Amino acid sequence: MFRDITTLLQDPIGLRNTIEKIVARYRNEKIDKVVGIESRGFIIAAPVAYALGAGFVPVRKQGKLPSATIGCDYQLEYGHDRVEIHVDAVNENDRVLLIDDLIATGGTMEAALKLMLDMKAEVIECCFVINLPTVGGAERLQKQGYKLYSLCSFE
Ligand code: PRP
Ligand code: ADE
Repeated sequence: MFRDITTLLQDPIGLRNTIEKIVARYRNEKIDKVVGIESRGFIIAAPVAYALGAGFVPVRKQGKLPSATIGCDYQLEYGHDRVEIHVDAVNENDRVLLIDDLIATGGTMEAALKLMLDMKAEVIECCFVINLPTVGGAERLQKQGYKLYSLCSFE
């Protein structure tokens, strides 16, 4: 089932509560960069970055970023995709918060995490509005040692 966040975002209280809950969790974490994942992740990551006084950095699908990039390929159910980030967007030892709207297989976030590893960033946590625990992506990444947080889960 497709889990859609547009009804949450169009609700003034829903949008405010979503952003404020995430901001409250990371307020004292000295986050340097909030990295949002195309495209639905951008909607959440940009206001969180603004409220934390951090920079916003987009991780985009292949071929969308205008300057020099590094990329990472990942598997989809049918086929594969690639995410990219500007080479100078994150500095070594930057304290980074990764944000996406939803985690299912975890393939997208795993690719973004590999980019952070390449850039020698310090990943504080991966944050999602929605986890789909039955798909198993969050558990798989947690077993690899990554810290994950989601506001809600749906079977
Ligand atoms: C969706 C969602 C996550 C990803 C989660 O993005 O926004 O980025 O899939 O799936 P995974 O955990 O199995 O990797 P999508 O690629 O559909 O792009 P969109 O945000 O532009 O709709
Ligand atoms: N991205 C991957 N799986 C999804 C789902 N079930 N609903 C919304 N976005 C998704």
